[in-house]
Order: sequence, then structure tokens, then C-alpha cells
Amino acid sequence: MAGFEEKPQRIISDAGKLDFDYVPEKLVHRDEPLNRIFSVLKSSVEDGMNQKVAITGSVGTGKSSLSKRFCLDFQDWAREKGQRVEFAIVNCRSRSTASGTMLKILERFQPNFPDRGFSTAEMLEILRKDLVKGSVHLVVVLDEVNVLVKKAGPDLLYSLSRFDEERVTGSRHSLSLILVSQQPVNEFLDAATLSTLKRTNQIVLDKYSREELADIVSQRVELAFFPGTVDTDIVEFIADISAEFGDARLAIELLENAGRSANDEGLDFVGPENVRAAKAMTYSVVTESKLNALGEQQRLALLGISRMMRKKAFATTGEAEKAYALACEEFGRKPRGHTQFWEYLQTLGDAGIVGLGMSGKGMVGKTSIITLPDIPSKILENKLLQIMGKVPVKK
Ligand SMILES: Nc1ncnc2c1ncn2[C@@H]1O[C@H](COP(=O)(O)OP(=O)(O)OP(=O)(O)O)[C@@H](O)[C@H]1O
Ligand SMILES: [Mg+2]
Repeated sequence: MAGFEEKPQRIISDAGKLDFDYVPEKLVHRDEPLNRIFSVLKSSVEDGMNQKVAITGSVGTGKSSLSKRFCLDFQDWAREKGQRVEFAIVNCRSRSTASGTMLKILERFQPNFPDRGFSTAEMLEILRKDLVKGSVHLVVVLDEVNVLVKKAGPDLLYSLSRFDEERVTGSRHSLSLILVSQQPVNEFLDAATLSTLKRTNQIVLDKYSREELADIVSQRVELAFFPGTVDTDIVEFIADISAEFGDARLAIELLENAGRSANDEGLDFVGPENVRAAKAMTYSVVTESKLNALGEQQRLALLGISRMMRKKAFATTGEAEKAYALACEEFGRKPRGHTQFWEYLQTLGDAGIVGLGMSGKGMVGKTSIITLPDIPSKILENKLLQIMGKVPVKK
């Protein structure tokens, strides 16, 4: 036996069921959107019509899982009706060109399709022949499709959404599209493509509520943990933490890390301290989503504060306001008044990004003080600049 020390697993029984790409047999609280996609796409199989659905919603609302679950269930449904449905799921962040996307789709039918030598138009024709030959209805999921549109333009999307206009009469093959993105479709689709997408085919997934997250976490406990290792209090605690973001991925990550932490400590159950440890581990993820949720002025306020705090443990609100004004100037923005700045501070305080308290020792008079409790100022500053998508305008 090798000399590695490995703690026997007493908490997590099936880690694979906590993987991000694992899709449970049943998605919790997503029956309604699942049925909506079905009601749109079933006519594509029944009459060979080309259909299109868009699924949008913020991070971790289950867009990718929903589209994959749909494809699997739809294939089963069609099989029972004696129809052949295939699906191709393309992540457009890793395949952000038209030919890369087409290649991934074609590989579903011809696994060794050469990766060069064909134009997109030729690849579309080859796909059409493959579909006719196999009498296949194909569902194409373009996940993070906004990246494709941004990098490669709308042409491929346009061709795919008009795929059946050149349909051989009488043939049953067709192609349906599921477009997935965090960004709302009207922000990145061109008018022509948008016009082919009916309002009823646009599905917006809301952030999960605290209760929904608790149900999602419970399901994973059942699937991936030994019985009796995770109490309902722990499930509630994890749901509480993740409810601020409505993000199922965060909830599952907290659960997994809490389970690992408990196992590392040799416990036979997950305790609240393990959840806190998990929260600290996932903190960088948490901070990022918090920063993403801020408005521009609040980001400028935080940028000023984070720079000012590089060498300070505490700062006054007056100092913070000056630092905010400097950040505004740097970005060519007009600083808002004192009252509004005060509101920004409260928002940052409520989000737990900065600490707000009353002055302590060594400070003159009674004044509010600011701290940065959890994240190094340099990291905060860099993350902010990254999110604000620019190098500051230097004068
Ligand atoms: N309704 C649900 N029931 C069970 N698990 C879910 C549900 N929704 C999401 N999850 C799980 O949460 C994680 C994130 O979901 P998913 O990847 O589908 O989110 P997303 O909306 O595509 O996020 P992103 O915008 O970051 O791509 C996955 O592990 C997924 O299995
Ligand atoms: Mg996704």
C-alpha cells in the first residue's frame, strides 16, 4: 500500500452527484419551464417544424441543467413515439467561432469530421444531409450563446434559425434551437433573429428563493451523502447563506465543502462550523457575485475605499468620500452628493463587503469608521477594475 494517508469517507457517499455537470433525474422547482420548452418543441417532432426557445437568467439559476434535462427527457419521449431525436450541446464560450460550433454539431453524426477544409455554409449542407439520411430531429443547445454572437456575429444563428426554409418537402427532419445565456436576448440578438423568436418562447429563470435552495440542497443530501450525516438545520443554514444570491451552484458548493471539512475533521456528521469553514473557502466566489451586483457608483465608492485601505486598518467616512471622488474623476464620472455617498456605504455594509462601525481608540470625536473585513484591498481593487471592464482613464 502507498504511504498516502487517506481518511475513509464517512460523510459523502457519492461525490459524482455533486459535480457541476451532473444533472439530476428531476430538477427541483423547474417543472414549469421544462413543460414550456416541451410544449414549444414537440411540434417540431410532430410536424417537422423548426422551433426556437431562449432560456435566460442569472448565474446558477439552472439554465444549463434545464436544457440538458430537457434534451434527455425529450429524446425518451420521442423514442416512445417511434421518432429519432438527437441533441448537440455546444458551449459557445469554448467554441466561439461559427465553424467551431458547426464542427461540434456535426461530430454528433460523424465523430471524425475533419476540423478544417469546409466552410460554414458547406457544413450546414452536410448537416442537412445527415439529418435527412437519419430522419433525425436535432435539438441544438447553444449555451452562453451571447459569446458566440459577440465574437462571430449573428450569421450562424440566423442560418440555423432558418434551417427549415430549405427543407425537402415531405421529409420529417428538422432542427430546433435552444439559446442559453445570462444576458437577456434583446441585448445581444440582432433584430432579424429576435423577430423569429416569439415572446412566449423566451423563458426567464428567476433566482432561487431560500426555500427552493433548501429543497435543492436536500435533494443533493439524499443523492450524495450517507444517511443521517446532514441535519435539516444544516440544510437551512446553507440555504440562508446562498439565498442572498439565489444561486444553486453556490449552495451545492457550500454543501460539498462542508461535507469535506467534516470528513477531514473525522466527524460523522456535518456541523455548523463546517458550513462556516465552507463559506470561507467559497468566499472568493461570493465576493465576485456581490461585486457583480453593485451599480457603477457603488463600485466607484468601493474602488476608492479599497485603494485607500491598502495601508490602513480603519478609515473615516470623510476619507472614504474623498477617495470616492478621486475614483470618479479617474473614470470621468461626476461624484454624487454626501447623502448618496452615505447610501452607497450602507449598501456596501449590508452586503458585508465593508464593515461599518463607530470610531475606536486613537480617533478624534465620534465618527463612523470603515473596515475591510474579509478580502485584501489589492484583490478587491483588481476585481473591481476587471468587472468595470476597463483600465481607468488617466488624465
Ligand atoms: N432546479 C435544480 N434542481 C437541482 N439542481 C439544480 C437546479 N438548478 C441548478 N442546479 C444545480 O446547480 C448547479 C448550477 O446549475 P447550472 O449550471 O444549470 O446553472 P446556470 O444557470 O447554467 O449557471 P451559469 O449562468 O453560471 O452557467 C448545477 O450543479 C446544477 O445541477
Ligand atoms: Mg450554465
